[in-house]
Amino acid sequence: MKTILKNVTLINPNQNLNRKGIDILLTDGIISKIGNLTKEDKNDSHEYDFSGKVITPGFFDMHVHLREPGREDEETVLTGCNAAANGGFTGIACMPNTEPAVDTAEVVEFIKKQAANHLVDVEVIGAATLGRKGEVISPMAELKEAGVKGFSDDGSAVKTAGILKRALEYSNMFDLPIIEHCEDESLAGGAMNEGLNSTMLGLPPIPSIAEDLIVMRDIIVSEYTGGRIHIAHISTKKSVEMVREAKKKGLRITAEVTPHHFTLTDDAVRTYDTNTKMNPPLRTQNDVNEILLGLQDGTIDCIASDHAPHSLEEKEAEFEYAPNGIIGLETQIGLSLTELFHKKILSLEKLIEKMAINPRKILNIPIPKFEVGEKANFTILDLDEIWTVDLSRSKSKSKNSPFDKRLLTGKPVATVNNKLMFYKDKFIKL
Ligand code: DOR
Ligand code: ZN
Repeated sequence: MKTILKNVTLINPNQNLNRKGIDILLTDGIISKIGNLTKEDKNDSHEYDFSGKVITPGFFDMHVHLREPGREDEETVLTGCNAAANGGFTGIACMPNTEPAVDTAEVVEFIKKQAANHLVDVEVIGAATLGRKGEVISPMAELKEAGVKGFSDDGSAVKTAGILKRALEYSNMFDLPIIEHCEDESLAGGAMNEGLNSTMLGLPPIPSIAEDLIVMRDIIVSEYTGGRIHIAHISTKKSVEMVREAKKKGLRITAEVTPHHFTLTDDAVRTYDTNTKMNPPLRTQNDVNEILLGLQDGTIDCIASDHAPHSLEEKEAEFEYAPNGIIGLETQIGLSLTELFHKKILSLEKLIEKMAINPRKILNIPIPKFEVGEKANFTILDLDEIWTVDLSRSKSKSKNSPFDKRLLTGKPVATVNNKLMFYKDKFIKL
């Protein structure tokens, strides 16, 4: 089948490519011509006019919680993939804090089977320790064999420096990163950032040093072992500064930030809306400013959602008892374009690097190329569309987000991958 995507701007910073007004011919989901299409090319083809729209390598979200197996009432692999396609992503990596945790090849294979034949590629992150309990290292060789792209005890930090050292020594043999949720256990358990707001609201606090201490520990253990650490959802000024210094020293440290941590501060918690409760918690403007600097100077490599679906009943508990986390797959691109691109914090090229290129580099996944013969793996963006988030239209099974009704500028229009295009709320075979 032939498909023509008409009059697009093609941007791929990984190929130094930026071309305007191009027509692309796809044959059975493969790029078969870029520009100069003939009459013959146009015969029997389906044409889509994407005038003024931008085609980038498919965006990849490296931090997503699918709740299957275990909490299929909150999200399944299928509903998570649908939310990803709707949100502009052609690939995601899912975290291992399922029930059971992803600590055997069987669970990895089960998730991959659930994701088969979807537009969205699902990569799996394995647990760093058995059951994520922090006591015994997971069977990393078996998990690697099953195809995992990294290891994490996300939801908690790897419990001790001793286990982390061993985990890094093993994961290094497979050139896979440890993705670290940085939170010192002895300072954890609060409901929001420690500061004036937590005092005023009377909520149990999580101090910023809970994060900083583990970032510091991990940098030191990474330097000692030569193993690779990826800092998940960085949220404090000091952590950003430490990662910056570690990178200057040439250490193997990378970092990601979520849209909520560069968009909101702990002032948002004053509403007592449990959709402002997440872990790490929303911090202060001082932290947000450093995160923006870190995005600009390359200290922060990626933007990832930490998409964390939770049931309405559980989120409706009192703030202190509600679970941590918000969904993010369908608001991430809009928030990033609005807050970073349109506010001139990042160029479009830099944004694409942080949302399509760097996550794949960190997980050793091939980066989509715009070349004849390559599989079409695209995100198509309208940079200027002004739209309002409407959670009732989300494809996710859960609706826990603080961004409902938020006005955004810039939107994913379509996603293309695996011989499928998601466009105007439908999957279309290519
Ligand atoms: O907010 C969060 N939600 N932080 C985590 O570390 C875990 C996640 C979840 O799984 O709900
Ligand atoms: Zn997470």
